[in-house]
Amino acid sequence: RNASAMLSEATDVWNGYVEKAQPYMPSSTRMAVIGLVNLPIFILLLNALWQFIRPKDRSLPPVVFHWIPFIGSAIAYGNDPINFLFRCREKYGDVFTFILFGRRMTVALGPKGNNFVLGGKVAQVSAEEAYSPLTTPVFGKDVVYDVPNEVLMEQKKFVKFGLSIDNFREYVGMIVNEVETFMNTDPAFKIYQFDDINEWGSFHAMKTMAEITILTASRTLQGREVRENLDKSFADLYTDLDGGFKPVNMLFPNMPSEANRKRDKAQKAMSDFYVDIIRKRATGNHEHDHDMIAALMQQRYKNSRELTEREVAHIMIALLMAGQHTSSATTSWAFLRLADNPDVTEALYREQVEHFGTGEEGKFQPLTYESLKTLPILDAVIRETLRVHPPIHSIIRKVVSDLPVPPTLSAPSKDETFVVPKGHFILSSPAVSHVDPRTWKDPLVWDPSRWNDAEGVAQQASKAYSDEHGEKVDYGFGAVSKGTESPYQPFGAGRHRCIGEQFAYLQIGTILATVVRKVELRLESGFPKNNYHTMITLPKDPCDIRYRRRHFD
Ligand code: HEM
Repeated sequence: RNASAMLSEATDVWNGYVEKAQPYMPSSTRMAVIGLVNLPIFILLLNALWQFIRPKDRSLPPVVFHWIPFIGSAIAYGNDPINFLFRCREKYGDVFTFILFGRRMTVALGPKGNNFVLGGKVAQVSAEEAYSPLTTPVFGKDVVYDVPNEVLMEQKKFVKFGLSIDNFREYVGMIVNEVETFMNTDPAFKIYQFDDINEWGSFHAMKTMAEITILTASRTLQGREVRENLDKSFADLYTDLDGGFKPVNMLFPNMPSEANRKRDKAQKAMSDFYVDIIRKRATGNHEHDHDMIAALMQQRYKNSRELTEREVAHIMIALLMAGQHTSSATTSWAFLRLADNPDVTEALYREQVEHFGTGEEGKFQPLTYESLKTLPILDAVIRETLRVHPPIHSIIRKVVSDLPVPPTLSAPSKDETFVVPKGHFILSSPAVSHVDPRTWKDPLVWDPSRWNDAEGVAQQASKAYSDEHGEKVDYGFGAVSKGTESPYQPFGAGRHRCIGEQFAYLQIGTILATVVRKVELRLESGFPKNNYHTMITLPKDPCDIRYRRRHFD
């Protein structure tokens, strides 16, 4: 209704201008101007009318009504995808198609919809055809979505080798050390309490967590050389590369923009930076820790070929980009939620005291990889944050051969099925599943305690999704839980499931615990809204968090 009201207002304004100008124009010019002015309106009306009168192809899912051809539902979806998808579901059911800049996106919702998209066969759906225009210019050639699916599966196996438990054991102490140093030296944490003066400081959730995330990821996975260069050239390269990692690039990857020019330059420089590290290390007399570059340099493809220097370099860039925004957004949302719920922060703090307290206030035993797994409140805080704020709201595949929709998911009538034609895209939304009132009680309420109920939806969903309990499949990178039908899938599911999940839990958990040991938190202003205009769902400004050092710190 809003769109049509705006449209009619705009028409009135235009017609007013035209009327005023009419007496001064010769009649043929007048006719031409009227025609030209009204042409867009005519096209919109024709497009609207066509959607009602066009003979329906019963094998295609219903198409969401839209005023503007080509642009379609891009504005509604882009501004608030979750609200848009819920509204469409009310009108069209679990399967429907919407237009996004000329592309036909068929959405499949609910657990069966998730299974349809994420469990799709390689012969029918392709992630690389959907994502490559965005990712290849950023990651570089010959990796991830620039290679056939079976090669990606091998590359995921190589990365998993680097994400070993032995490495994780070393990483916890390194992350604690980075966070503590940051809190002791960064201006964001310059406020201390003195005697009776209760001083509160404040930090910007997103900016601070982005810094802490890159510091901790580079100290651990990325390796010493990256960490040492973070304050120098590497940070600028990262900024430029990131500037070209935007949703718009998925639709229009090669626009001749300044951002894309900087992206291409930074990609080359960053690739060279990693190649330089690899060459130095290959000489055998260069010190390094157990990081991902070291792990990748030992790997071989099934045909016994070693990875090229560029492949290692580009996998490293892919991991940097895949892990940075997802982890820093999750950590930011977790801190914002904790600041909004001081009782949960206190419970989290008490959990630290109970498990690691030494009896002397402010002195704790060190965190370890094993002990992180025994902290139910910390675990619930992360899970609940990923439920309400999954960083990736839409998962997309391109249909590469006509794809029938199972009748159990949606069927036009008893004897018919929908078929999504080759060339369309299919989309599943973990963010919709995670707050679906058909599944979750009080879905929009952030309540970590829902994860305590062993029989509750949360635990059941999580069991079906976890590697320990769920049905296992090996897609080529080790057995993982299938999880495609779970209503909780912050890390995706199926063959494209995230390989960074364990690392993310470790990184986020260690950061949360280390910060909460030192400070109390409060929200500076109201709880921030979602910004959906970025690759990852981020908090909108203002998103400042007030902190007060615990009095012993
Ligand atoms: C894929 C989420 C952290 C590496 C994915 C996917 C999701 C996801 C939803 C599936 C995308 C799809 O199916 O199209 C997350 C979240 C994270 C996180 C929520 C943190 C909270 C990480 C980290 C790394 C990583 C730390 C690297 C160390 C990857 C890679 C893929 C992937 C390489 C591509 C897999 C493929 O297409 O087969 N992630 N991720 N992620 N993630 Fe993560």
